[in-house]
Amino acid sequence: MDDSTKTQAVSDAVASLYNTYPFPPEPILDEAPPGYNWRWYWPTVHSFCTGAAPASNTVRVLDAGCGTGVSTEYISHLNPDAEVLGIDLSERAIATATQRCQSSGATNVQFRQLSIYDVDQIEGEFEWINCVGVIHHMPDPLKGLQALATKLAPGGFIHLFVYAAIGRAEISLMQRAIALVQGSQRGDYRDGVQVGRQIFASLPEGNRLKQRERDRWAMENHRDECFADMYVHPQEVDYTLDSLFELIDASGLEFVGFSNPQVWQLDRLLASDPALLDRAQQLPEKDQYRLVELLDPEITHFEWFLARPPYPRFSWDEDAALLSAIPTRNPCMEGWPSQSIFDHNYQIISLDKTEFEFLQACDAHNGPNSEHSQASVAELVAHGEASPEVVRQMQQRQLILLEPSQQT
Ligand SMILES: C[S@@+](CC[C@H](N)C(=O)[O-])C[C@H]1O[C@@H](n2cnc3c(N)ncnc32)[C@H](O)[C@@H]1O
Repeated sequence: MDDSTKTQAVSDAVASLYNTYPFPPEPILDEAPPGYNWRWYWPTVHSFCTGAAPASNTVRVLDAGCGTGVSTEYISHLNPDAEVLGIDLSERAIATATQRCQSSGATNVQFRQLSIYDVDQIEGEFEWINCVGVIHHMPDPLKGLQALATKLAPGGFIHLFVYAAIGRAEISLMQRAIALVQGSQRGDYRDGVQVGRQIFASLPEGNRLKQRERDRWAMENHRDECFADMYVHPQEVDYTLDSLFELIDASGLEFVGFSNPQVWQLDRLLASDPALLDRAQQLPEKDQYRLVELLDPEITHFEWFLARPPYPRFSWDEDAALLSAIPTRNPCMEGWPSQSIFDHNYQIISLDKTEFEFLQACDAHNGPNSEHSQASVAELVAHGEASPEVVRQMQQRQLILLEPSQQT
């Protein structure tokens, strides 16, 4: 078999898995889905990557490998000014995604059954590409990422998610065990799910594979779609930090940062010994990530943003730029208005009185329903208790988004 025939055979097997078990198996709703994920909201994506709110929300978004359209539906509802396209290999996944968006009234979205390898068939470029849980299922992930890179507009961002090898060691062993038992029946995904469930049921108590499944995954794997996606996949590449950065370096795009940055903070692991933490923090950034990977074998995936340069970066270090910016409250929070809220990462946080009042002032002047004229940071600071430093920290904690003034 030549390379392209092999690639096609693997892609056919992947499409067949997801035609049997479309993923994710979330129910279809007749209204916009509840909640938010800041990685699906263009202003917070742009702000995370550049430091500033975007000049325009009228962007083209590609959800590459959209599956049954759960993320696509969120992106469409959270970004009503965007034009959204979802593509996927699997015909059944696309049919479900289409039905999902019709049912909830997402009108700014279209779907197409198309491989990521063939994105050159789509006209034009995208300011934002979401590609979560997909390229590690492609026979040549780098070729897939490079294909997506050709569709990313200059200054655009792509969000990616791939599996991590260390945290998925037990899953990988179980995948191989199921394949061995299935033998020539590999490719019959229903049989694979049945074999997998039988093996787990037979393993003795205390067995590490069984224990890990029970402690970490059993809740979601109750659904056969999730079990198959995890254990009976015909194609999966798991990454280490080193192989991840080889992929990134070869993509021609620029690494912006992990989209779960708190996971990659060494103080999460070494804070009890400040001297050791300090020593570890002297390491180059990539070695600090390597150290986290080694010390926390629970990490099961990598998620991160890449950019197609050039793109702006705002640090807000200079008071003049900060004071002339227009602040808005990040809508990715729950429980507002209250001093105790869930923040953009669904962590409960307490706002002090100054922060709370600043957010109220943001809503009053710069919110979507505001009846006042727009106010800059300088104007809001002049009428409240917040100092520029408080505002800076609120931006870093993603409580507010800052739109630079035209002169900045
Ligand atoms: C694990 S699902 C992820 C779905 C969705 N992105 C999510 O996060 O909910 C992987 C999806 O990638 C799709 N896929 C795999 N290879 C693809 C390719 N070459 N082109 C387009 N879609 C692909 C599969 O059909 C499947 O629906």
